[in-house]
Amino acid sequence: METVTLSLEQLQPGLVIDQDIYTGAQMLLRSGTEVTADLIIRLRQRNIESINISRGSRLARILCDQEPAEPVRSDMSNAELFKRHGIRSAVPEALLEEATTEVQQFFEQIELGGNVELDPMRDVVRNMVGHMLANPDGAPKLFTLKDFDAYTYRHSINVGLLMLLVVRDWGLTEEKMNEIVLGGLLHDLGKLKVGSAIINKNGPLDDKEWAAMKMHPVWSIELLGEHAELPPEALSLIRSHHERMDGRGYPDGAKAGELDRFARLSAVCDVYDALTSRRSYKGKIEFAAAVNILLESSGTHFDSTLLNAFVRRIGLYPVGTMVKLNNGETAIVVRTNNDMVTRPVVSPVISPLGQAYQSSSELDLAEERQLFITGPA
Ligand SMILES: [Fe+2]
Ligand SMILES: [Fe+2]
Repeated sequence: METVTLSLEQLQPGLVIDQDIYTGAQMLLRSGTEVTADLIIRLRQRNIESINISRGSRLARILCDQEPAEPVRSDMSNAELFKRHGIRSAVPEALLEEATTEVQQFFEQIELGGNVELDPMRDVVRNMVGHMLANPDGAPKLFTLKDFDAYTYRHSINVGLLMLLVVRDWGLTEEKMNEIVLGGLLHDLGKLKVGSAIINKNGPLDDKEWAAMKMHPVWSIELLGEHAELPPEALSLIRSHHERMDGRGYPDGAKAGELDRFARLSAVCDVYDALTSRRSYKGKIEFAAAVNILLESSGTHFDSTLLNAFVRRIGLYPVGTMVKLNNGETAIVVRTNNDMVTRPVVSPVISPLGQAYQSSSELDLAEERQLFITGPA
């Protein structure tokens, strides 16, 4: 049987797998499985980048028509580029590094069963929240991927900060916001107890392994032990970040009515970060594609009001990312337009002929209607 290889990026929620798919001798996906955002995330977590499917299948026919765009090099986190175009990071890189180290140390100490203090984490959280509140238009800097081993820690920080993008509009005290971000930093602590053999397993989890995986939010709270004096909002997001509005999440299978807004928002931010923490095979981070995947599950998995609020804040193209314009220019996003997520304010960086511009000039795509973004660069 002639097969074609489909990258995970080509899979979209709503498609149906129309044949059994194996990795080696093990069945990965059963025929009839519907592709959902959660399924895509689970495959990514298993380090599965692609699936093989027979050339004649319907899925192959739908997806093989979509030729990947030619690779374009982008240098998104280039500090000079940020400086030139007047973009500030919402949180300085040095502080993110410090936070990553703190989270890592906290996790390691918990694993060793030692006496652990939350205060250093509280300090770094207070600092990050202070920066983000002072820089509401700053780049969320979600695309620093140089240290892949630190993925779990950076993911934990990202979830906390992504939540802050939305909860800062809720009229909470800064102290309360700090505790919510701290909850984000701790939400996956329980993965320590699941163990790296399961977390990093290449291939599908068996029933027993999956049962352990589903316990990690409960174990996060358990491992916090005496530190579980966190406020209810933080505990709720830690325990319920994998719950879904339709009751199909875990660990409790809680339904919409049982989930508070902190839990509901954490689900959105957790999935968004999981989807945007890897570069695709094209070398780009598909932020807009991640938003589309979330929107496909709006209402069923995610609270649609909160999801919309999140998308308005982050935009389809977050501040600091590079995009292609329909006139052939490459531009950097300098501000989001909350009411027009597809039309942020951008500054052209590279001309249609490939020459770098030496100065910055802002284009508000909400006003320049003849111009539009064709995709990430
Ligand atoms: Fe989790
Ligand atoms: Fe997570």
